[in-house]
Amino acid sequence: MRAAIISERNAPPAIGDFPEPQPKDGCVLIDVDTAGLGGWDVLGAYRLGVGYPCVIRGEGVGRNADGQRVYFGERSVQPWGAWAERTLVPVEEVWAVPDDVDDRTAILMGIAATGALVPLESAKVQAGESVLVLGATGTLGQLGLQLARILGAGRVIGAARSATALAHLKENGLADDVVQLGGADDAAALKTAGGAGFDVVLDLVCGAPLLAALKATRWGARIVTVGTGAGRQVHLDMADLLFRTLSVIGTGQRPPADRQQIWRRLLGMSREHGLQVPQAEYAFEDAARAWSDQKAGPHAKITARVRR
Ligand SMILES: NC(=O)c1ccc[n+]([C@@H]2O[C@H](COP(=O)([O-])OP(=O)(O)OC[C@H]3O[C@@H](n4cnc5c(N)ncnc54)[C@H](OP(=O)(O)O)[C@@H]3O)[C@@H](O)[C@H]2O)c1
Repeated sequence: MRAAIISERNAPPAIGDFPEPQPKDGCVLIDVDTAGLGGWDVLGAYRLGVGYPCVIRGEGVGRNADGQRVYFGERSVQPWGAWAERTLVPVEEVWAVPDDVDDRTAILMGIAATGALVPLESAKVQAGESVLVLGATGTLGQLGLQLARILGAGRVIGAARSATALAHLKENGLADDVVQLGGADDAAALKTAGGAGFDVVLDLVCGAPLLAALKATRWGARIVTVGTGAGRQVHLDMADLLFRTLSVIGTGQRPPADRQQIWRRLLGMSREHGLQVPQAEYAFEDAARAWSDQKAGPHAKITARVRR
């Protein structure tokens, strides 16, 4: 079958022939229609424990043996994944897609929206509070801004590096204000935007932006870290933590039944509030370009049509 194959650690994917998965107890064979790509796929592909060659894992929508449309998360049995004509997924990770939900929405409300909603709900955003999203121009970031508002936030502020992508956040009404990171004094810029201080920080990047944001929070602020694109290690001054509460959130570690229930709730929120993120659709044959664009930060949700 055709698949986007990673042949060794740090190699980009290439389209080629890959052995089809065979039936296995407790797993579902899926003919893939649409595959999605996110920051976590790129970070996870070269981790210790990944065997090569393997298919890009991704998440996707396809059809089971009964022809039913199903969503499956990034739990394909290795070495298979969403970026292939067929994949094999544990049964508890395969969820029926409602007829009124298109493939791209089903994928967007999966890992990305779950990864934004769970930390925001853990932070218990209160009505009128101010929320800062670090890494706001990415997929999770744009969803995080919208979800923070739905949860009752008063002001939502987005911070990232790309001036163009930040400007879009304001033009589209996703953010009340934006802060461009990477300047001479990011902490000062965030403090100016934060006024009396942020109540909640949804941190999707960690590293230096997290340290700068800590200084722009008010006492009692909740800081939830989900991603590490700006660095996994930080040199933390404990004075910046006193009186604040810091959580690190791994949404993928939740039981599948919990994640399915969150995904269904998000499909409802998407219907009701029209959650939106720019979509970047690639030809399946362009998997290598999709991969490098995801690494560079596409400011959009990447998907590819797998079934011709
Ligand atoms: N814990 C979980 O369960 C969970 C679940 C899902 C996702 N995640 C993680 O969440 C993160 C975000 O995912 P995503 O798909 O939204 O990624 P993404 O599309 O790459 O977005 C990340 C954004 O962060 C900004 N950024 C990157 N490096 C930065 C830096 N050094 N300083 C400031 N801003 C920076 C980029 O915007 P600019 O180009 O504008 O700077 C980019 O748009 C990833 O690390 C992913 O692994 C975690």
